[in-house]
Amino acid sequence: MSTLFDALPDRVSVYEVSPRDGLQNERVTVPLGEKIRLLDALADAGLRRIEATSFVSPKWIPQLADADDVAAQLPRQEGVIFSALCPNPTGFARAKAAKIEEIAVFLSASETHNRKNVNKTIDATLGAIEEVVGPAKAAGMRIRGYVSTVWGCPYEGDVDPARSVAITEKLLAMGCYQVSLGDTIGSGTPKQTRDLLRRMFDAVPKSALAMHMHDTRGTALANVVVGLELGIRDFDASVGGMGGCPYAPGAAGNLATEDLVYTLHGMGIETGIDLERLWEAGQVAESIVQRKLPGKVHQSGVRSLRA
Ligand code: HMG
Ligand code: MG
Repeated sequence: MSTLFDALPDRVSVYEVSPRDGLQNERVTVPLGEKIRLLDALADAGLRRIEATSFVSPKWIPQLADADDVAAQLPRQEGVIFSALCPNPTGFARAKAAKIEEIAVFLSASETHNRKNVNKTIDATLGAIEEVVGPAKAAGMRIRGYVSTVWGCPYEGDVDPARSVAITEKLLAMGCYQVSLGDTIGSGTPKQTRDLLRRMFDAVPKSALAMHMHDTRGTALANVVVGLELGIRDFDASVGGMGGCPYAPGAAGNLATEDLVYTLHGMGIETGIDLERLWEAGQVAESIVQRKLPGKVHQSGVRSLRA
């Protein structure tokens, strides 16, 4: 009988979201220089895909109102791709002016969360995304997609997986190189994850999917292991476990990058990330947001593992 451990890959790709998903949800607005210090520490730890900021409305997300300045001061390094959220043509114009090489478009599988988050119906949001995708491709940008509330909606509860499948297909057909499936409120459990991914795989290739798990109920890593077993090779995470959507009440932090990397390395899966330096980046994150962060490895430390 085959088991989980027969299906493991040699390597997976980690997509870091703390500078965007983390900082958008903090009470304090972190000064520009401190944001750059965090981005620098993350790149130094070996992260190669980092979501740096959002070109959204500063009225809606004041914590990231300095996106243009963040983009201008990115600590660019060979091999590191910095991306940014982009909801509409205004956001695209800002991303293009800032010479961002990858944008992330986003919408939800549930109407109520989508309207609360971007002030439009799902259909109208797909239209706004379509307006962005063509010019972004013409400008040579990579385009990533997000579908939120795939595992559940804070307003509507259960979400029919068929909705998430249909939106994912549309985003891929438009030209997204990858779609990240969001457990926006961290309600997912492993069997649900298995059932959902199987539904997805009937319609889209595994290699085009990533998982973006929030860890409100401590189930994020268990869901990631199910994803690994079924063939997902791309996972989003946030250093220290920062993160949340201001328009999703009850959404706690993302899966902590340190916890993900610790677990992957322990299973013999390479990430290219230096766990000790990543832990140090988590210390930078904690100091700039001025609160204790929830990540387990962040709290326990990595040096003690060698003692
Ligand atoms: P709106 O108010 O409906 O926009 O917001 P509008 O088109 O009516 O324009 C109103 C004003 O906003 C205008 O300015 C526009 O120029 C301006 P005014 O004429 O009044 O001076 N505006 C902009 N300014 C700067 N950049 C822009 C922009 N667009 C319009 N891009 C909008 C619609 C989508 C802009 C707004 O709802 C918004 O910014 N929402 C973003 C919310 C957000 O960022 N949420 C968190 C990220 S999603 C998430 O966390 C989930 C994820 O992590 C996955 C998961 O966990 O599931 C990705
Ligand atoms: Mg998120």
